[in-house]
Amino acid sequence: MSTLGIETSCDDCGVAIYDATRGIVAEALASQTEIHQPFGGVVPELASRDHIRKLAPLLQRVLDDADMTLEHLTGIAYTAGPGLPGALMVGAAFGRSLAQALDIPSIGVHHMEGHLLAPFLSDERPQFPFLALLVSGGHTQIVRVQAIGDYKILGDTLDDAVGEAFDKVARMLGLGFPGGSAISKLAISGNAKAFKLPRPMTDRPGLDLSFSGLKTAVRNLVADTSPINDQTAADIAASFEQAIVDTLRIKVSRALRETRIQELIVAGGVSANHRLRQQFQLQLDAKVHFPAPHLCTDNGAMIAFAGHHRLQQGFTEPLAITTRPRWPLEELADQSGSAHTGVLHRSQPH
Ligand code: KG4
Ligand code: ZN
Repeated sequence: MSTLGIETSCDDCGVAIYDATRGIVAEALASQTEIHQPFGGVVPELASRDHIRKLAPLLQRVLDDADMTLEHLTGIAYTAGPGLPGALMVGAAFGRSLAQALDIPSIGVHHMEGHLLAPFLSDERPQFPFLALLVSGGHTQIVRVQAIGDYKILGDTLDDAVGEAFDKVARMLGLGFPGGSAISKLAISGNAKAFKLPRPMTDRPGLDLSFSGLKTAVRNLVADTSPINDQTAADIAASFEQAIVDTLRIKVSRALRETRIQELIVAGGVSANHRLRQQFQLQLDAKVHFPAPHLCTDNGAMIAFAGHHRLQQGFTEPLAITTRPRWPLEELADQSGSAHTGVLHRSQPH
């Protein structure tokens, strides 16, 4: 079985092929950073238009790299939500139509399930049940994962997602877009103890998170500090990054303790963060899994893998092309092991 994966939920256009016996056999990614950089954030319409331009050449590239033709594909998975409506529609229309033309099944994949399953593409696979910390530009969630498709959200952010907080603080420091990796790079030469910043909601019970107070504290710090030379900026970046890592670590240790679960996966764009990876590995009383660094941010491989599982179980999308820009992860649990964007067809496993 060879499943094509297509990711177009935001500003990265990712295409990959997952083979049931060989794993990921080819992957390609087209970043839109240069397109959105002048605007300081993602411009949805520009994102959709660029996905339209990039999908066919990326598909050709992965087929060439894998030494395959379209006829070798046995299924197509595309991100159906959550994400930008137009961008999602481009990938869904491309994937669903190609599947129709090739007469093979297709499946709409939940973007966060894609992230959540990315650590399974590493050699050492997580064991169920485990906890997942999902940290991306749009989500910050602590999830109990009983099996693929069986997700219970234990904690969620009340305001900004953690990636969003990174992006906003990067803007305050004039680091441009995208912000997370820029903060991370700058923080290497900074002193994480230079400034005292809050660890929001850690002194309260429960597993919910909030990052707007921390963001405001950094904004006030930037306003009150002058001049901000390179070293001061690095110190602010490091202190902010440490506050985020401490906050997440405190909440996740609480979740591990309360659920008595001993395995954790961390996924989503922010899981690429070096400080977070290092300190979670060293300081948490659990076996911690991360995706390979290039599979932390959006990519086609995670969608190919998640879709492969759904297709293997016999689930396929009907011919209608549907996307869900808003899509709660827990709705995947209504049938064990099923992902669907609306009407779901269960056919014989392929
Ligand atoms: O998962 P992702 O690629 O897209 C979404 O699903 O949102 O995550 C993107 C987010 C952005 O907010 C970006 O700033 C953040 O992940 N990010 C990082 C790092 N690399 C990406 N945040 C902190 N440190 C990084 N190294
Ligand atoms: Zn993502």
